[in-house]
Amino acid sequence: MKPIRDQIKEKPWLGWALFFITIIVVFLLGLLASSVIERRAEAVFAYTPQVTYSQTEPRNDVWGQNFPKEYQSYLQTKDTLFASKYNGGAMIDMLEVDPRLVVLWAGYGFSKDYNQGRGHLYAVEDIHNTLRTGAPMGEEKSPMPNTCWTCKSPDVPRLMKEMGPADFYKGTWEEKGSEVMNAIGCADCHDSKTMNLKITRPALVEAFERMGKDINTATHQEMRSLVCAQCHVEYYFNKKSHPGSPYLTFPWDNGMSVEAMEEYYDAIEFSDWTHKLSKAPMLKAQHPGYEVYLTGVHAKRGVSCADCHMPYKSEGGQKFTDHHIQSPLNNVANSCQVCHREETASLVADVYERQDRIIENRDKLEELVVRAHVEAKLAWELGATEEQMKDILMDIRHSQWRWDYAAASHGGSFHSPVEIGRVISTGIAIAQEGRLKLSRLLASLGHNEEVPYPDITTKSKAQEYIGLPVDLLQQEKNEFLKTVVPKWKEEGAKREATYTTSIQ
Ligand code: HEC
Ligand code: HEC
Ligand code: HEC
Ligand code: HEC
Repeated sequence: MKPIRDQIKEKPWLGWALFFITIIVVFLLGLLASSVIERRAEAVFAYTPQVTYSQTEPRNDVWGQNFPKEYQSYLQTKDTLFASKYNGGAMIDMLEVDPRLVVLWAGYGFSKDYNQGRGHLYAVEDIHNTLRTGAPMGEEKSPMPNTCWTCKSPDVPRLMKEMGPADFYKGTWEEKGSEVMNAIGCADCHDSKTMNLKITRPALVEAFERMGKDINTATHQEMRSLVCAQCHVEYYFNKKSHPGSPYLTFPWDNGMSVEAMEEYYDAIEFSDWTHKLSKAPMLKAQHPGYEVYLTGVHAKRGVSCADCHMPYKSEGGQKFTDHHIQSPLNNVANSCQVCHREETASLVADVYERQDRIIENRDKLEELVVRAHVEAKLAWELGATEEQMKDILMDIRHSQWRWDYAAASHGGSFHSPVEIGRVISTGIAIAQEGRLKLSRLLASLGHNEEVPYPDITTKSKAQEYIGLPVDLLQQEKNEFLKTVVPKWKEEGAKREATYTTSIQ
């Protein structure tokens, strides 16, 4: 081939062509460089602090000024439109869906009112609304302690810093009505200086200590689940460890399985309430979501809560963590499909298939435990003695605990279907064992027939059956929401107006 200089001499147009090609290439490279610089500038702009504030700043919109993308996505937890087959953000009255629950919880707050959980932004509003917190007006007190606020708000770490956790838990719920204003948010999970993930609730740190573990040595990937484990766990109010304070405690000393926690509660003879029909000393499982997740295949492979419930999202060339915490079935593309190649429909079907199979047996266990309560009630009426009832009541306690551990570990039938299936089968075996003892006892007391199953086909029939004046409770609640809550909000707003943040 001839040197390029000779070729251009022969064909001058070639020189011009080379000249223009070079100009175009340089122009395109320039465009690319400018776009890269612009994106960098945007990123710097987005993360340049607009305001400074301290760790005790509870207002999410203040943090949101520095981190608008995370804040905007967080606000989407207000969405209540998405409903999957069993879950989602929609408001579902679980007692209406399944009136057996009313009988299972007879004598306890949950028989009054129990809705399926929705987005984090509703946490404070929903605790105002639920009949379980009562209608404290005038001198009247709430049936619940201040401990109930613990998993609802970033005002909680603020108050705990001021008064210490034991004093925070002391007293009844209405006392802190004007203090807890902001729904679950930034200060619950983040360090204000570094934005690193942070554990803000002492109960989790203390539970780790009692198991001989230091939570500060947790890996980054473990932290992406542990921030959730501050709230999505089993817990109880320990009235002995700090006198006068219902101290929030996780019962993990013997382990996190259904049996290990049961052993823990049995050893200290703890019960949440005495059942109204059977008089059994009952346990209420809260929501052992983290404990159940740990037994599943995803946890074993190192997949965290945030991987599925807070996947990455891209907007304007920027990748950030989607703070719209919700059912991943509303966002299969960004969550599951980062790791799985299957179609959306097939992944959703995988979830529903596991849930359907678990729920089939869970319903059966519910029916058996309802029957056991009703049969025990009859045994008492026929003159059974405490001695005769003791073992039977323990069977009722243990079988309902297993049912509740499975039902209340929200998402558990997907997070760990094999473990939840196991827990339900052991529950069924214990319930049947108790009913065998009951039928022998009833026969010895002269009752040799099947005890009729009550008509509890609707929520109101079931509430009537257990003798709950729910209309009255609702009237009082409405009055409370109209008169007391607006005052709390007014007082809280006045206090917050005195907070200082500096604008940079
Ligand atoms: C592999 C993905 C994955 C992981 C990891 C995971 N989840 Fe889930 N989670 C799901 C799916 C799928 C559902 C079922 C959603 C539905 O039925 O709409 C669910 C359901 C839930 C629900 C009930 C949702 C609702 O709409 O009411 C909660 C609460 C929950 N998960 C919390 C957690 C917590 C806390 C962790 C970590 C300890 C965790 N999840 C880990 C996929 C996951
Ligand atoms: C329930 C816990 C939780 C809450 C509440 C929460 N975050 Fe996050 N945030 C996370 C997790 C998990 C990550 C991912 C962190 C990681 O992997 O390093 C994250 C990451 C971030 C990051 C790092 C950049 C990114 O997008 O990955 C910023 C900034 C952030 N969050 C801001 C906020 C703000 C602002 C709020 C309040 C509106 C908030 N977060 C509320 C859990 C939370
Ligand atoms: C400070 C306590 C707290 C922390 C921390 C927390 N949650 Fe929650 N979460 C709640 C409460 C309370 C609700 C129910 C709110 C309601 O129904 O009003 C809830 C509801 C949910 C729901 C149901 C939302 C829906 O649309 O159905 C999911 C899913 C969930 N949380 C997942 C998580 C994950 C994942 C993490 C960690 C990244 C986490 N949560 C951290 C307390 C917490
Ligand atoms: C960060 C990666 C990751 C994400 C996100 C993820 N998975 Fe997985 N998934 C895995 C791994 C790893 C396994 C285990 C497979 C193995 O080891 O062979 C698994 C296993 C499974 C299995 C079979 C195990 C069983 O219990 O039957 C199903 C079904 C499944 N995933 C569905 C989902 C769905 C639905 C989602 C979204 C809600 C999801 N996964 C999100 C990584 C992930």
